[in-house]
Amino acid sequence: MTLPDPHSQANPQQAKTERISLALRVDFASRTLQGEAMLELSQAREGPLDLDTRDLDIEGVATLDGRPLRHRLEGRDPILGSRLRIDLPARAKGVRIRYATSPRASALQWLDPANSNSAHPLLYSQCQSIHARSIAPLQDSPGVRARVDVRLTVPSHLRAVVAAEALGREPSRGAEATDRFATPEPIPPHLIAFAVGDFESRRLSHRSAVWAAPSLVERAASELAGVENVLQAAESLFGSYRWGRYDLLVLPPSFPYGGMENPRLSFLSPSLLSGDGAVVNVIAHEVAHAWTGNLVTNASANDFWLNEGFAVYAERRILEELQGPDLAGMHAAIGRHDLEQTLHRLESRPELTRLRVQLSGLDPDQAYSSVPYEKGYLFLRRLEEIAGRKAWDAFLRDYLDRFAFRSITTQAFLELLEEALPRVAASAGVLRWIDGPADAPDVASQRLTELRILARRAAAGVLPSPAERQRIGPAELVVFLQALPSPLPASVCAELDRAFHLETTRNLEIRVNWILVQLRSGLPQGTAAAREVLLSTGRLRHVRAIYAALCAHPALRDFALQVFAEARQGYHPIARARIEDVLRPWSGQSA
Ligand code: BES
Ligand code: ZN
Repeated sequence: MTLPDPHSQANPQQAKTERISLALRVDFASRTLQGEAMLELSQAREGPLDLDTRDLDIEGVATLDGRPLRHRLEGRDPILGSRLRIDLPARAKGVRIRYATSPRASALQWLDPANSNSAHPLLYSQCQSIHARSIAPLQDSPGVRARVDVRLTVPSHLRAVVAAEALGREPSRGAEATDRFATPEPIPPHLIAFAVGDFESRRLSHRSAVWAAPSLVERAASELAGVENVLQAAESLFGSYRWGRYDLLVLPPSFPYGGMENPRLSFLSPSLLSGDGAVVNVIAHEVAHAWTGNLVTNASANDFWLNEGFAVYAERRILEELQGPDLAGMHAAIGRHDLEQTLHRLESRPELTRLRVQLSGLDPDQAYSSVPYEKGYLFLRRLEEIAGRKAWDAFLRDYLDRFAFRSITTQAFLELLEEALPRVAASAGVLRWIDGPADAPDVASQRLTELRILARRAAAGVLPSPAERQRIGPAELVVFLQALPSPLPASVCAELDRAFHLETTRNLEIRVNWILVQLRSGLPQGTAAAREVLLSTGRLRHVRAIYAALCAHPALRDFALQVFAEARQGYHPIARARIEDVLRPWSGQSA
């Protein structure tokens, strides 16, 4: 029997979970969650019910009315975890499972006060792609959507925030209190998300607020003041926002992503609060997911581009509305640079450069790359170009309506495309995009050409004039740095640093691109700055690029391993595992 999702050992043909109710006590001392998961099924069922788990300690399984049930936890697959097989009696409508999580749960990061931006410990979750199973036994496939109730019992001086509607705090019992939440909409399990810590909130609009540590919340509120504009631009393009509130939670620096589109509550890296407006494209991206990814969801990681390619496309349409086509084009150029590097890295794995992939046997975190994002974006741009914007926009709305609150495959997208816009697929050569390895078509604009000329001149020692420098915004500076040839003479690097304050910028993307320029040029300043960044942020995309750049120099490999040994404890388990992939070829050789 083949299962529909290569990353889930649950079998949705047995039964589908309709509601998940989690009642968990958050224990910072043992770094575990303890309690109960209740799963209600959409239909009564008898016989085996298979669930996904990873590193869970299963204490007991019972029917909804409390009768104990036979169950078996199978061996641990290194990627998928352990299948929990429960024997359901006749007409069972659900199960209750008592369990505890492991201190090493792959979705969770437990932070001491020293690493939490505050005077208190902090816990947060990151479930995408297949980590929800490490916090609860469930059918961990995006094809199985359920409503989720969450009750978290936490130290009463802390607060739980959940990507769901807040239902309030129950009267507290001594040192602990229980915060309650529910999602009115059915969501895929990778969108279950929560955090516990010392958080405060500030209002941003009638439907938005930002949550952050007290020391950060004012700055966050002022940098995120434009969130309502982003929501309105998105609504004007894609139809009304269907999730009630849109709040944001600013996490500690170890958060492994720039942003994560958890419903009603996007999670955000604090590194984006750089004071220069750089956060807008990430907000536009996470807001876009409220339509593409959360409303219409990929059926499995094989169709991940349906989430991310559409989100990048929608992000750049929103940016175009808010800031004009030139700026949206800058982000497309940064994306294309990323894609080129990825294609180079994946030269021997062309199967991973397709939009529709076959990831059985491979962890989705390991396959993660800019291909679904940027090749997906270029593909959708091409379809728009052939169909014409007006017809394409009508199609997009139709697509979002037709598949709202459903999880779909690439095939379902292609069928609707052919039905609504006949022959557009054929003229785009759709299957070459979808099932063929990528090459990166060029994107062009006058401003891009200008920036590339400025970069070439700078490399020859002629820096942009003060007037030219004034005009270069943060995204443009990234494009400029990426266009610099290497190696650069030390004197040019020193002048660039002085002209653009590259050593002291608060913008992490600029800082990382500058470090990469220095490392490519073999300059020792690069290693000190690299170390500083690797120890102070856990954003996987950036730290992975730095570790890879260090390891490209045989003389810096030991240095990279030493910094990792120091920084490792501070990274989220997901980031830790991916960085270990980068360092593995050199790990044995360390002195
Ligand atoms: N959903 C992703 C993050 C993600 C993907 C987490 C796969 C786990 C597995 C999120 O929407 C994202 O793409 N974030 C980007 C933002 C960027 C594209 C603007 C990031 O963090 O870099
Ligand atoms: Zn995304």
